[in-house]
Amino acid sequence: MTAELICFEERCRSRYPITEVIYNCPRCGGLLEATYGKPLLPAEELKALWRTRRTSNAPLDQSGVWRYREFIPFLADYGRVVTLREGKTPILDGRLTAEYGGLERLWFKHQGFNPTGSFKDNGMTCGVAQALRLGMTRVACVSTGNTSASMAAYASAAGLQPIIFIPHGNIAYGKLAQALEYGARTFQVEANFDQILALVRSLAERLGIYLLNSINPFRIEGQKTIMLEMMDQRDWRVPDWVVLPGGNLGNTSAFGKGLREMKDLGLIDRLPRLAVIQAAGASPFYDLMQAEDRSKLRAVEHPETLATAIKIGDPVSWPKALHEVTTSGGVVERVTEQEIADAKAVIGRAGIGCEPASAATLAGIRKLTKAGVMKSDAEVVGILTGNVLKDPDFIHQYHTGALRGPDGTQIQPNFGNAPVVVANNVEIIENMLQS
Ligand code: F0G
Repeated sequence: MTAELICFEERCRSRYPITEVIYNCPRCGGLLEATYGKPLLPAEELKALWRTRRTSNAPLDQSGVWRYREFIPFLADYGRVVTLREGKTPILDGRLTAEYGGLERLWFKHQGFNPTGSFKDNGMTCGVAQALRLGMTRVACVSTGNTSASMAAYASAAGLQPIIFIPHGNIAYGKLAQALEYGARTFQVEANFDQILALVRSLAERLGIYLLNSINPFRIEGQKTIMLEMMDQRDWRVPDWVVLPGGNLGNTSAFGKGLREMKDLGLIDRLPRLAVIQAAGASPFYDLMQAEDRSKLRAVEHPETLATAIKIGDPVSWPKALHEVTTSGGVVERVTEQEIADAKAVIGRAGIGCEPASAATLAGIRKLTKAGVMKSDAEVVGILTGNVLKDPDFIHQYHTGALRGPDGTQIQPNFGNAPVVVANNVEIIENMLQS
């Protein structure tokens, strides 16, 4: 089966060999995506094959990405693939959060169960596999934290040198710690995500370093499998909605592409609607969806949110994301800092937990049900993108009433759970526990 890169722009659609080191269309500058011929097996046989692989001990079959390799057939040889057993993330019953979300039932596909604690691992195993195939020795990314943690792990495991660029003072501690531990050369640049992306793109080109931001089409291929795995886990029952946070919009693009391709292959018979949730202080995609003229995204120059993972003002993948949201009949919503913080605590109390950006999902669901866009009896799968331990400072500050928004406003600990300091005295503690 032939794999190629194709320009995403409708008026261009130029095709390039899969082995070319390009991130944008050399002719028109458009985004690129991988495209394939039809798989050799019919839908029902693919489903059976993928199900059988769940009992296999082969590393590639144990990966929740490579298990589905017929769906992402861009490699000619799987011999050098590095897997840390990414994917295989559970769909958890969010019943204790459903009422808060205004729903009868709610499920969370929790990508925080990945080896480095976020959905980036699904994409990174593919991006690094392509880097190896192209003979690259160094890989780079700019990141709000999770991409860098993931790239550091996968690149180091593959014997490549990871070089990461992060906005100084603007990433959660758990993520920076991971990058250092996994051996990445780490630059904290005094600029925001969007400015650093421009810098890294030019550096990568000049120094022959392979770029592993989500503009890299092979990362998108890996992230597609999140939707495939979700359908497999649901025995191919299509939910009404899939809800996810949006930052650089790579994941929205990946989910939409994956769902469309599943429908084209006859694996599912309809598309779920995508709901993308942004933080109100970093919501250029929300603004675009409100605008009459959607031909150009107006960047937010100074994006602000405590959910640092989605603190992005100029998302590169917006043309793809726009296509995917409209094709699915989806919507884009925005939520406040207080709404994110409260939703996060509600997810935590349910014993599930997630990082701030992920909680935008539940905050968005609550808003969409209140507005009547989402019906209370809808089947909804929310995507929790990152692990609760990624941002412990946020948690401690929220529960102790010390959390302040980017503009200095206090975030109310509406679901706060502050620790209590007590003397080492059994009677006092006993009294407290009896009240
Ligand atoms: N949730 C988390 C936890 C993230 O880390 C990100 C993105 C998103 C949601 C948004 O996904 O960019 O595909 O729309 N983090 C990137 C990073 C930007 O550098 O780690 P998106």
